[in-house]
Amino acid sequence: MILRFGVPLAPALQPLHLRVPLAGEASSPSTRAMPREIHPGIHWIQEFGPDRPGIAKSLVDRGAHWYRPGREIHVPQNAFLFAGERTLLFDTLSPAADEQILADLETALDGRDLDYLALSHPDVPHAGNTFRILERHPGATLVAPRFGRTHELYHLEDAHKVGPGDSLDLGGLRLNFHDAAFLDAAMSMWMTEETSGMLLPVDWMGLPLMDGEGLLFADEFRSPVDVDRYAEFHGRVMFWMRYVDVSRTQAEIDLLAETYRPAMVASAHGPVIRADVPRYFEMMKEVVERVATGGRTGVL
Ligand SMILES: [Fe+2]
Ligand SMILES: [Fe+2]
Repeated sequence: MILRFGVPLAPALQPLHLRVPLAGEASSPSTRAMPREIHPGIHWIQEFGPDRPGIAKSLVDRGAHWYRPGREIHVPQNAFLFAGERTLLFDTLSPAADEQILADLETALDGRDLDYLALSHPDVPHAGNTFRILERHPGATLVAPRFGRTHELYHLEDAHKVGPGDSLDLGGLRLNFHDAAFLDAAMSMWMTEETSGMLLPVDWMGLPLMDGEGLLFADEFRSPVDVDRYAEFHGRVMFWMRYVDVSRTQAEIDLLAETYRPAMVASAHGPVIRADVPRYFEMMKEVVERVATGGRTGVL
């Protein structure tokens, strides 16, 4: 059995683990990119987010080897469009990217309708454009995790609820819904896609990007995607890892690798991994140890 790690709080107390950019803070046009097709029929849409000088300063202060002083630091939000015979968008970006998600979705849909909008969890950076997207695509069916008891709070009571054991055949692409092993809200789910072997672990496996690193596969980075980068993110977002039993959590990561055997990993806050996935899972085991011993890196 795969355990769920996280500390679900009462909804009113739920931290917005990623500070939501304010109006005018959205990515500048120079950092905007078109959606990227990362597998036939699967399109990656990215909100690069605002520059975060606070994180840059702490990277300089601790001498992070991969960071070059003066470079911008961004924490991205990702959404993914799955276009088989039917189409599904997984997550919505933050409200600062409302116009972007509508435009990028239109580009990726290429004249087709959106059939499903699936939410990983109700955090604002993931679900904040739900109603804008449904307004634009009124025929789309809203899909939400069946976990938790706060659906009415988020106006998700009428959504189609899914969880472990549930699948959605889009025709050419097939989605499976799963328990979220690393999560920050009780109402959360992960997803896999069968033809690509893609795992979508949502808040897990994110990392900060420098300018110019938007929409790059992990193997395309000039400055390495390594444990330190992942630890920087998880020490801010999943800082509760400082309280976990390290060896037990690492064993769960091994179990995740064994259970899903992903060929690709598409995090909501990191680069898409398309090669050598086991190496990244090993890094994530080290991240648990780093956060458990080093404590919280900071806030976002
Ligand atoms: Fe989250
Ligand atoms: Fe998130």
